[in-house]
Amino acid sequence: MLPYGRQLIEEDDIAAVVTQLRSDWLTQGPMVAKFEEALCGLTGAKYAVAVSSGTAALHLSALAAGMGAGDTGVTSDITFVASANGMRYAGATPVMADVDPTTAHVSLGALERVVAKLKAEGRAPKLIVPVDFSGSVADLEAVRAIADSVKATVVEDAAHSLGATYTTKTGAVLKAASCQHAHMAILSFHPVKHITTGEGGAIVTNDEGAYKTLLELRTHGITKDPAKLTRVDGPWYYEQHSLGYHYRITDLQCALGVSQAAKLERFVARRRQIAALYDAQFAKAPFAAWLTPLAVPRGVTSAYHLYVIRLTQRAGESLTDVAARRRFLYDGLRERQIAPQVHYIPVHQQPDFARAGLSAGEFSGADAYYAGCLSLPMFPGMVDGDVARVVEAVGEVLSKAK
Ligand SMILES: Cc1ncc(COP(=O)(O)O)c(C=O)c1O
Repeated sequence: MLPYGRQLIEEDDIAAVVTQLRSDWLTQGPMVAKFEEALCGLTGAKYAVAVSSGTAALHLSALAAGMGAGDTGVTSDITFVASANGMRYAGATPVMADVDPTTAHVSLGALERVVAKLKAEGRAPKLIVPVDFSGSVADLEAVRAIADSVKATVVEDAAHSLGATYTTKTGAVLKAASCQHAHMAILSFHPVKHITTGEGGAIVTNDEGAYKTLLELRTHGITKDPAKLTRVDGPWYYEQHSLGYHYRITDLQCALGVSQAAKLERFVARRRQIAALYDAQFAKAPFAAWLTPLAVPRGVTSAYHLYVIRLTQRAGESLTDVAARRRFLYDGLRERQIAPQVHYIPVHQQPDFARAGLSAGEFSGADAYYAGCLSLPMFPGMVDGDVARVVEAVGEVLSKAK
């Protein structure tokens, strides 16, 4: 089976973990700080706090944004549920905004409408989480302007976009997760992501106050900062000043992370090559009109966590018809030993969100996107022949579809 994504672990990655196993530190040792330093280098952000998962990073960033019971936050309807769950763990209420189906990024119009509605109801959002879907970067500059209008914190969900860049209105080229527009950004190091630590995540920020809060929250709310202690009984002494969590990442994981971080540029370059091959082969295929490529916004260079195709809705066709053709394509590819995936089921359609009354609103963009999207294999270990095989299989299956 050719999967939609997988890690690329090389001999030196294995050697780095073995060396760590022979060292004094399996956890809470020097590799965590080394990995955090590497993440600052890769993103350009000043501070990094590595944690046990991207989900933990979303939870802690929501807490650092001051989210709690009675507060609301807004995120994109097309994302992994973690983007919204981070707010729920903090006791707050996430509200989904519709997406632009051509990019699957949050629609700025929808975001403005949701923010205005919440403000009118006296519960203006405290947090906005734009999602850099598939590896291209959301319009962070515009999202920040909307957030500033209600003094909300922006946490960029950059789980898909490590290594991507975007261009500002003035022409500056900035890195995803550089926190030039967002107050904080979160990363994930799950094996399908650009670099992996097995499970793992991080929050990056340029805000020293948020950084210090995040460090405490990662370890039970414990501090050893002499300026904060109410007394000092000895060198062992620490105090818990808030209820934090055990969201630490291990030195074993960070040894792998440091080794992988050095390869980000090469891995992302290969992802871009694969995307360019797909683009070129689909564009010249006789069935090109059956597909609508996911658009990458102008000025953005995607890091291609995913390579998404969208089935074109034909004249007179309903979304149910498109979804049936997508299912036929999904099954046909699997029969040919290719395992595509669907990213994502709109969050508002999740029963738990619907039950909690978190999903009221208008989601025509997300529903249209979801009906026809399919993520094809995209990972740096693929060879060019894999791309040709996938493109041929897509054409073969679609030619048999209704
Ligand atoms: C957009 C997005 N945000 C957050 C996460 C959560 O990351 P993790 O799996 O490391 O908890 C994911 C993971 O797939 C994701 O795709």
